[in-house]
Amino acid sequence: MTRWAVVTGAGNGIGAVIARHAVKAGYQVAAWDVDGSAVAALADELGDACVASAVDVTDESAVVAAVAALPAAPALVVNNAGVVRFGPLLTLSAADWRTAVDVNLTGTFLVARTAAARMISAGGGAIVNIASINGIAAAPNAGAYTASKAAVIKLSEHMALEWGPSGVRVNTVAPGLINAGMSEPIFADPDVRGRRQARVPLGRLGTAEDVAETVLFLGSDKAAYLTGQTIAVDGGITISALDKMPRPARVDSVGLEGAREEA
Ligand SMILES: NC(=O)c1ccc[n+]([C@@H]2O[C@H](COP(=O)([O-])OP(=O)(O)OC[C@H]3O[C@@H](n4cnc5c(N)ncnc54)[C@H](O)[C@@H]3O)[C@@H](O)[C@H]2O)c1
Repeated sequence: MTRWAVVTGAGNGIGAVIARHAVKAGYQVAAWDVDGSAVAALADELGDACVASAVDVTDESAVVAAVAALPAAPALVVNNAGVVRFGPLLTLSAADWRTAVDVNLTGTFLVARTAAARMISAGGGAIVNIASINGIAAAPNAGAYTASKAAVIKLSEHMALEWGPSGVRVNTVAPGLINAGMSEPIFADPDVRGRRQARVPLGRLGTAEDVAETVLFLGSDKAAYLTGQTIAVDGGITISALDKMPRPARVDSVGLEGAREEA
C-alpha cells in the first residue's frame, strides 16, 4: 500500500533532505514549496517517488486544494516550511512580524488541520512540526521567530490532545545549530562557526540528516506511543544553560553541600 508523506518547504535545505529520507523510508512524497521550481528540481531528482507542487502554506485555499489533490490520506505530514525575520523588537516592522507568524505558525496550523481531517477519516497518521531551539530559549534579535516557533510547540501539544483519540500523533522537532538551509550563511564565517560549535555539548554542528532521521523516527511505528512531545535535535545546547555558570571555587571538588558547610 502506498504511504504518502507531505513535506512542506521541501524545495531547499532541511526540507529537501527530509523528503529524500522519506523516499528512502518507502514513502511516496508530496513535496510542497512556495518556490515551485525548487520542488520541481527535487522531483526530477527523486523520480516517481516524489510529486512536486507549488503550495504557499499561508494560502488556505491552496492548502485545501493540495490536500484534496492527494490520491490518499497522508500517513505522514511534515510541517517544515519556515522563514526568519530578524531584528530587535523595538524596531521590528509589523510586516516582518506578520510574515514570521503567518508562515511558521499559521502555515503549520492550516496544513496540519486540513491534512488531519483526511487522516482521521482514514484511521490515523503522524504529523511532525518543525520548530526550533529558538522556540525553547530566547536569543537576541529573534523575537518574531522565537515567538512563532514557541507557539508551534504549544500548537502541536493541542493538536496531539485533540487528535490523539482519532489516531493522529503530533510531535515537534526543534533543530539547533544546523549547518544547512537558512543557517548556512552564518556558518560560512569560520570564526562564528568555531565559536558556535564550541557551545555545543556534543562538539559539532548539526546536519539536515540529523533532523531528518528524527523526523522519520517520529513518523514511524517505532514512535507509536509518542505524541505531544518536542525533541530538540541540538547536540545538547538547550540543556546547557547552566554549564558556564560561575561557582564558588571549591564546589567542583566538594559539592554544593560541602560549600555550604564551609561558608
Ligand atoms: N537551518 C537551521 O539551522 C534551522 C534551525 C532551527 C530550525 N529550522 C527550521 O527548519 C525549517 C527548514 O529551514 P531551512 O534551514 O531548511 O530553511 P530554508 O530557507 O533553506 O528552507 C525553507 C523552505 O521553506 C520554503 N517556504 C518559505 N515560505 C513558504 C511558504 N509560505 N509556503 C511554502 N514554503 C515556504 C522556502 O521556499 C524554502 O524552500 C524551518 O522551519 C526553520 O525555521 C532551521
